[in-house]
Amino acid sequence: MLKATPQGIERAVELIRRGEVVAFPTETVYGLGADCFNPKAVATIFEVKERPRFDPLIVHVAEREAWREVAQGDEERIKILTERFWPGPLTLVLPKREALPDIVTAGLPSVAVRMPSHPVALALIRGAMTPIAAPSANLFGRLSPTSAEEVAEQLGGRIPLILDGGRCPVGVESTIISLLEGRPRLLRPGGLPLEEIEGVIGPLQGGASSAERPLSPGQLPRHYAPHTPLRLIEGKIPAPRGRRVALLAFTPPEEDLGYEVVEILSEEGDLKEAAYRLFSALHRLDRSGVEEIWVEKVPEVGLGRAIMDRLRRAAEAVRE
Ligand code: TXA
Ligand code: MG
Repeated sequence: MLKATPQGIERAVELIRRGEVVAFPTETVYGLGADCFNPKAVATIFEVKERPRFDPLIVHVAEREAWREVAQGDEERIKILTERFWPGPLTLVLPKREALPDIVTAGLPSVAVRMPSHPVALALIRGAMTPIAAPSANLFGRLSPTSAEEVAEQLGGRIPLILDGGRCPVGVESTIISLLEGRPRLLRPGGLPLEEIEGVIGPLQGGASSAERPLSPGQLPRHYAPHTPLRLIEGKIPAPRGRRVALLAFTPPEEDLGYEVVEILSEEGDLKEAAYRLFSALHRLDRSGVEEIWVEKVPEVGLGRAIMDRLRRAAEAVRE
């Protein structure tokens, strides 16, 4: 692990250019990156994460116009979205360019692209002089890491370098929308609130007013799962008797409810703060040795959509 100083970043750049993989911070979560034009390097990402080859990666660029290096598409629409939301937690799915190796997109004719806003991510991509393919830096199906320590817990010893840039300011993965059809479609709610996107380009398919489920190949039910069974609860109910259960509450409970451990997502009920704390709170509760984690539902507006999406998947993993 190296601090993301200019020397640390330089070391990461060298490794990427040599075809190795490196964990690095973005504003959403930590990514596990490789040169997207080097198929062997990209194959290493899948091996390290134990990720199935059918689950495509996101390509990260460092300039608003650089999507052209890996994708094609409707200039007008892309321009509106990238001028308004890049750099930031918005991923666009576009028709892929021939030159991009198929392993990056799991053989799909489309590619997911985003320009992160984290200065370390941008410096790494610029230094490497190539777009970087990167999934979240966790083992497949497990909790996404929002700190270098959380990356080390899952991937330590498997990769040559973790660049430590501190805690990720957004805390949940990017929002993914597909521009492959007539009307843009929401594939994954994430760090950019749906309402903001709809405010600029109008209603999305699978968006606020639609009951459809997102369709990203990686949107499998058992994703974002802690080891400890997780259950969603409505409001603040008392702990069950005789079992050691942790509570992940949205806001502070007014009384002692008898839980073994309590984590609060936001003192003031702020969804942005809750998203920022979500994964690290789950990591801590997962390590606390309780039998179950009970999680209070949060309102499904703004970043609350991304939070509930992750929590439902984590809870579903238990039922299987
Ligand atoms: O914030 C983020 O998006 C983080 C940081 C590191 O940038 N990355 C991330 O990557 O969350 P990952 O691999 O954990 O999730 C990428 C998602 C998967 O659900 C994958 O199926 C979807 O993007 N995806 C990638 N390419 C796609 C494509 N061509 N069509 C549809 N979905 C795609
Ligand atoms: Mg992931």
